[in-house]
Amino acid sequence: MNNKLILGTVLTSLLATTGVVMSDDDHNERENRSGFFSRFFTAAGVEPVNNQQYKDECGSCHFAFQPGLLPGRSWVKMMSELENHFGENAELDAADNKQILDYLVAGGSEKSNYRRSQKINNSIKNSSTPLRISETPYFIRKHDELPARYVQGNPKVLSLSNCEKCHTTADEGSYSESRINIPGVGRWDD
Ligand code: HEC
Ligand code: HEC
Repeated sequence: MNNKLILGTVLTSLLATTGVVMSDDDHNERENRSGFFSRFFTAAGVEPVNNQQYKDECGSCHFAFQPGLLPGRSWVKMMSELENHFGENAELDAADNKQILDYLVAGGSEKSNYRRSQKINNSIKNSSTPLRISETPYFIRKHDELPARYVQGNPKVLSLSNCEKCHTTADEGSYSESRINIPGVGRWDD
């Protein structure tokens, strides 16, 4: 083999093993977990949380939502009014607030190479700054078939904000339909 051929072979097998070569549908099970390749190629899912300070401060009352689930401007707004955070006081000292805000904005949906983040981002009008992931058009479209008895009326779920109750691999950034298991209801098959 000449050098070009060898390089081509190496590249192709690299792409194949990292899951970069994927079909573009929402039902794909192979959500990419590699942060490295996502910087250069589009990956499935949402980039997993990789910041312990964020997990500690923002994952104590609820699931630590991935930064790529909302645009940067949403995080800016949310972090500026933590003393009134959905009826709770989630205030942080200035240094922690700044560090967490930087982390969230750097991973905001408008900057992400992850396909799920891009879909969320594309669904939000530039003029809108949602504070809830569950109020973004993409999210609403994906969850509008869920009857209230599976969510609010389900003592093991209670709110659509509790992603990890139904999405068994939510903490890995994978929201594939095939990984959904609604407590007391079972796997989702539509
Ligand atoms: C004192 C408890 C508490 C802390 C700490 C806290 N939150 Fe929350 N958060 C809440 C409550 C309560 C809700 C509303 C949940 C619901 O409606 O079911 C919420 C909702 C949210 C939502 C909207 C979820 C949705 O429905 O889409 C986001 C995003 C969020 N929080 C981000 C953060 C971030 C970022 C931090 C860290 C700076 C944080 N939270 C810290 C209590 C907290
Ligand atoms: C009550 C269970 C439940 C909760 C809570 C929930 N989801 Fe879902 N989610 C579903 C179901 C069921 C679907 C599949 C809907 C369909 O396409 O038929 C879904 C679909 C999705 C999809 C699209 C998956 C695909 O393959 O098309 C994403 C992304 C998603 N949810 C993210 C979230 C996030 C983020 C949260 C939390 C803020 C959340 N979900 C909370 C049940 C839930």
